[in-house]
Amino acid sequence: MPTKPRTQGHPDLESVMFTEEQIKTRVRELGQEIRAVFGSGEFTLISIINGAVMFTADLMREIDNPVRLDCIRISSYGDKMKSVGAPQVVASLTIDITNRHVLLIDDILDTGKTITLVSGLVRKHNPASLRTCVLLDKIGRREVNFEADFVGFKIPDKFVVGYGLDFAERYRNLPCIGVLSPRLQNASAWA
Ligand code: IMP
Ligand code: MG
Repeated sequence: MPTKPRTQGHPDLESVMFTEEQIKTRVRELGQEIRAVFGSGEFTLISIINGAVMFTADLMREIDNPVRLDCIRISSYGDKMKSVGAPQVVASLTIDITNRHVLLIDDILDTGKTITLVSGLVRKHNPASLRTCVLLDKIGRREVNFEADFVGFKIPDKFVVGYGLDFAERYRNLPCIGVLSPRLQNASAWA
């Protein structure tokens, strides 16, 4: 049986925004950009989960520095398309980052509330430095003024899924990033 090309659109997607190949190429470039800034020394990666799991796993394999990894879990949108109220820390750091160089990683920068909250939390631990890296940046949606140091792709205000990004916890496993079909963009489609 012929296998479906992994970059082909999923039936629940209105369109594919970035193919698996495009993501791979950009993640590799990001690894080089990060290396150019951090040099060859050790640093600590902090991944905001669940959304940044895939991006973090691929990005860290493009960096050959010695690195340490920790995760911070932030409350998600639930089944909603837009963030409601303030994000909450559900599980915090487990390793000491005092006097360490830190790279904070998230899947997407939207209103800016999540990364602002997590940056504040990380800074309380007195790292030697803190930089941020996001795969996607929805520049038009910012409510809190925040610019990431490393950005994979700037994107328009579309709700996207795949490559770690979810809608109601689905689609994280898609190898591409695409715009969710409007027929699925309301909670009743999932009843
Ligand atoms: P912010 O706090 O509004 O910047 O939102 C950041 C978080 O919202 C991300 O870590 C994602 O989990 C989620 N998010 C924002 N936009 C999207 C999207 O288009 N698809 C899936 N998740 C999103
Ligand atoms: Mg997230």
